[in-house]
Amino acid sequence: MFKSILAMAACALVLSSASAHGAQTQSPILIKFAHVVAETTPKGQGALLFKRLVEERLGGQVKVEVYPNSSLYGDADELQALRNGEVQLLAPSLAKFEKYTKQLQIFDLPFLFDDLDAVNRFQKRAKGRQLLRAMEDHDIVGLAYWHNGMKQLSASKALLMPGDAAGLSFRIQPSSVLEAQFQQLHASAQVLPFAEVFDALKNAKVQGAENPWSNIYSKQLHSVQPFITETNHGVLDYMLVSNPRFWYAIPHRIRSELEGIIDEVTYEVNRQAEAANQADRQRIEASGRSRLITLDEQQREAWRQAMRPVWQQFEVQIGSDVLKAAQTVNRKQRN
Ligand code: LMR
Repeated sequence: MFKSILAMAACALVLSSASAHGAQTQSPILIKFAHVVAETTPKGQGALLFKRLVEERLGGQVKVEVYPNSSLYGDADELQALRNGEVQLLAPSLAKFEKYTKQLQIFDLPFLFDDLDAVNRFQKRAKGRQLLRAMEDHDIVGLAYWHNGMKQLSASKALLMPGDAAGLSFRIQPSSVLEAQFQQLHASAQVLPFAEVFDALKNAKVQGAENPWSNIYSKQLHSVQPFITETNHGVLDYMLVSNPRFWYAIPHRIRSELEGIIDEVTYEVNRQAEAANQADRQRIEASGRSRLITLDEQQREAWRQAMRPVWQQFEVQIGSDVLKAAQTVNRKQRN
């Protein structure tokens, strides 16, 4: 507590002196940007692009330090560190905000979004944009959505039909929706930080996991998962977040410039994410370490039917309005 008060006081001091005396002559505003993935992934690339553009346009006024691969904070402590003012930017997966808002659980519902384009439409519309502000009471403000991609199911055995997953234990992010999703398959779920996934799979602490291709490839998860089923059953996207007490204390001119940079970076991350995932899919296939299983229409429909009851379970806490808005974004409408 004392540590966090000190951190906030220090940050307020930097910001107020920057605005009072002109940022040029003061020490720069420091933005520590921590994340848990590799630098080659969509989020890793986005963080580096943000740093580069800030250096080019606000050099001397704002300094960005990027900490990838859970090197500064990991899943267990990064949001608390943001709230305490110890780190200024994060981009956690949307599944990791459950403690602060139930509404973002919309993104974890299985088979809700057909593809990333549908996710994109939802994020751009009114309900999606409202969710960026859903955690301000907890000192978390959303600045943008960044894509990673659709999740695939990896396992120690071939998963063709939902029944094949019964009895296995899957690593999940800290999300009750994801836990319920695996319960529907008569499988169990274990919450583990991303940094521990490789070892947990290698040592058979869990037998399966779900992630987009970029996370699987960059962490070499395919080398310890002999089968990956191309389910595209859910999305793994991010919210770029800051602490509103930090963010809104940045002098207006500098903050506007930063927001412009974030818009550009967001555009780039989201434009390239799908291609990056497909390239990693190819690399995984070419490695021959894991067999890729594609599903035919009937098999995919069976997975959809098996997981679909999760929607009803969470509709009340997510909000029917949010669910309805999300259901309108697919090109092909279903019940
Ligand atoms: C995971 O924990 O699997 C992901 O959220 C990691 C990430 O940030 O992409």
